[in-house]
This record gives sequence, C-alpha cells and structure tokens, in this order.
Amino acid sequence: MSEEKKVLLHCEHLVKEFPVSRTKSVHAVSDIDLEIYEGECLALVGESGCGKSTLGRTLIQLHKPTSGDVWYKDVKISAMKPAEFAPYRRQMQMIFQDPYASLDPRMNVRDIIAEPLVTYKVCENKEALTKRVLELMDAVGVPRDFLYRYPHQFSGGQRQRIGIARAIALHPSLVICDEPVSALDVSVQSQVLNLLKDIQAQYGLTYLFISHDLSVVRFISNRVCVMFLGKICEIGDSSLIYEKPLHPYTKFLMNAIPIADPHLRGEEKTLLEGEIPSPINPPKGCRFHTRCPYATEKCRTEEPALREVEGRRVACHLA
Ligand SMILES: Nc1ncnc2c1ncn2[C@@H]1O[C@H](COP(=O)(O)OP(=O)(O)O)[C@@H](O)[C@H]1O
Ligand SMILES: [Mg+2]
Repeated sequence: MSEEKKVLLHCEHLVKEFPVSRTKSVHAVSDIDLEIYEGECLALVGESGCGKSTLGRTLIQLHKPTSGDVWYKDVKISAMKPAEFAPYRRQMQMIFQDPYASLDPRMNVRDIIAEPLVTYKVCENKEALTKRVLELMDAVGVPRDFLYRYPHQFSGGQRQRIGIARAIALHPSLVICDEPVSALDVSVQSQVLNLLKDIQAQYGLTYLFISHDLSVVRFISNRVCVMFLGKICEIGDSSLIYEKPLHPYTKFLMNAIPIADPHLRGEEKTLLEGEIPSPINPPKGCRFHTRCPYATEKCRTEEPALREVEGRRVACHLA
C-alpha cells in the first residue's frame, strides 16, 4: 500500500446492542473506532460470537447503530434516511458464508446475478442484461452454459462464485466478505481466495474480510483487526501482527494455526482458560481478563485503551 492511504469508510464510537429483555441486551459491538482504507483488504478475526458480522453489517447500515457514527469518505451515512442512502448502498456489497442460504433456490443463475442490475436499472434491455451477466460469469469462472441452472445444481465453490458475481455486478467500492470460504472444503478454499484476490485487483475493490481463522486471511489481508467480545484487541499491518502479535488473545489465535516449521514448534503456548464470557454481561476491566493467563489486578478493574505499541495498536495493559 502507498504511504498516503485514503480512508474509504470509518466509524467512531460505534455501538450495536440487541435487546434481549426489558433490562438486558447483547453487547455485540462496543465503542469501536475503525478505518478501512481504499484498496486494502482488512481482515476482521476473532472467535464465533465476538461481533464480527454485526460490525460488518452495522458499518454498511444493514443494522442501525445503537450509537456512534459511520462515514463513507467524508459523508456521514449512519444518520441517513433510506432514500438518501440508496446511492451509497450500491457501493457496499456483501458476500456470505453460506452461498446456499444467500441464493434464492427458485431463481436461476441469470436472474440471481441480474437482480441487482435490474434493481438499479443498469442495463437498457434484456439482451444487454444477459450480456452483462455472462461477462460476470466469465469474471468469476462459472461456465456460460450454466446460465439457466439453479443453485442446487452447483457445488459449494461454484455457488460462492455466483455470490461473488452478484456482489460485484454493480461495481461496488467496498465488499464485506463474511466468512466466504469457511463452509468450503479446504481444497476449494484456496481457489475461491485466489478468485477474490484477482477480482479485488481487477475491480479495484476494498475488502473487509471476516474470518474466525487467522490462517485463512494470511495471504489476502494487508491489515488485521482482532476482536474479542465486541472490542478491538489489536489492529495493524498483517506483517507485524503475524510476525509479532502483542495481545495475548492474538497470540492464542496464532497458536491455533498449525505450524509447518519444526524449529518454531515447542515455543511458549498461550493456553486459554474458561468459557467465552457472556456478551450480555461483559466482564469489567479488560474483557479478556477472565481467560488471560497474564491478567493482573489492573486488568480486572481498568479497561485498557487501544494505544500505539510497536507500530500497531493494541488494547492490553501488559503490552
Ligand atoms: N439479530 C440479532 N439479534 C440478537 N442478537 C444477535 C443478533 N445478531 C447477533 N447477535 C448476537 O451478537 C453477538 C455477536 O454476534 P455476531 O456478530 O454474529 O458474531 P460473529 O460474526 O463474530 O460470530 C452474539 O452474541 C450474537 O448472538
Ligand atoms: Mg459471523
């Protein structure tokens, strides 16, 4: 990435809570400041339930924030009415984990990929529409003969390619890839990752790439943002995070990656204790302290701020 990076989307003090009773709510996203730069792939990682999908959806206004704001370039989009937001909507698309659930089983491939083009009246007539759909099928490597087939006639990898074609149909600037390869066989994962990387370069896309698995995002991400229980633990350039993670939780996630190099095995392993605490009642102090092997009294009482340490930002009293 070049030195002068332009911010495409950013949020300040973003909060998303889901009420579960009259007095209680799930604290899915808690006071997050985040910026996504034009042309980058920012990986968002953390265990299931930590708020990754909610953050992604709240950033592109699929959820209304409980509080806090989101800007697209210099425009505040979080306070907009739907009609005002419509031109921004098409700039932000999403690719989902389970393409089978996200593709309408009653629609054929042509109609699935054409739908956003029809909604935004991009093509003049039916012929132009079909031509555009075929070009998109070429771009994602789905054979043209499959134009009138239905989702159930495809493999998981092919279905994900169709989901990608649909997501790029309107030439968006930002694509939120929410666990796009997690449901696929390992052999197919790398094909789809390579496709996403090619498509990113070809269409000049910016990605927020959500995954629970650090090994998946290693070769696609420029930066990594690690989340735990609705908060950012550590964020920085991939090279820094993978080479020298500073937050104990990032270290734990790294240790979950199988190590091929025998010289690196047998290094200190961070073992986590206990269950993930409840997002309905998050722990005081550092949200990670109940599972952290290094937690001190300060960690139990005082919430660590996200601060600059060794070229990245980290929220840990001990870093
Ligand atoms: N629509 C919803 N209503 C109520 N709770 C939700 C909703 N969506 C997510 N949650 C809760 O918010 C928390 C974060 O969920 P999610 O963003 O899906 O995490 P992740 O994507 O990291 O697995 C979880 O506790 C989840 O149960
Ligand atoms: Mg999710």
